[in-house]
Amino acid sequence: MQEFSVALLGWYHKNKRDLPWRKTKNPYKIWLSEIILQQTRVDQGLKYYLSFLEHFPTLFDLAKASEQEVLKLWQGLGYYSRARNLHFTAKFIVNELDGKFPDNYNELLQLKGVGKYTAAAIASFAYDEAVPAIDGNVYRLFSRLFGIYTPIHTTKAQKEFFKIVSELIHEKEAGYLNQATMELGAIVCRPRNPDCEDCPLAFKCWAFEKNKQHELPVKKAK
Ligand code: ADE
Repeated sequence: MQEFSVALLGWYHKNKRDLPWRKTKNPYKIWLSEIILQQTRVDQGLKYYLSFLEHFPTLFDLAKASEQEVLKLWQGLGYYSRARNLHFTAKFIVNELDGKFPDNYNELLQLKGVGKYTAAAIASFAYDEAVPAIDGNVYRLFSRLFGIYTPIHTTKAQKEFFKIVSELIHEKEAGYLNQATMELGAIVCRPRNPDCEDCPLAFKCWAFEKNKQHELPVKKAK
């Protein structure tokens, strides 16, 4: 896996998009960005991220706000349960956890609105914990890279991909490695017309070699 991470990180540092949540280790800001981006595209989410931080620069400001204020700022993003959970969780951390943001994967998983992907994203970006953050982009990338036909919305796939991606993510650069796999999946290993010419992992890619990119990932069990 060593040659994967070298190729991947080399590509990432040269090609990554300049996004504000990538320049911070503050778990509050990273959590906020990940909740917004759960069901929203980066270009739309960016405005909301900046506006939330302007109104609520810290977790304590968010916890003090009224639900009405929070929902008003969320307007236009949809899936309002995300905003309610965000507010609930801010109050929970301030009131029940002495304002101390959970600093590891297992504790992050206990927060309302935080699933496996989001917990791993925060744990690795903020604290460099070596847990794989597997979103749709990462399923696509790894299914093609290794020729995995397990349908991706199944428990079997969750376990299988978690194991494979875990081997790539090591402590020293866990945050960068997770960001890099997501970024490569988002901008190069696209669902249609992947840009294999510019892919740093094409030299090792099963689907590229066999010209099967369009068959993967498999979305539904037959
Ligand atoms: N989508 C979800 N999380 C993201 C992140 N941290 N950077 C870019 N796109 C994302």
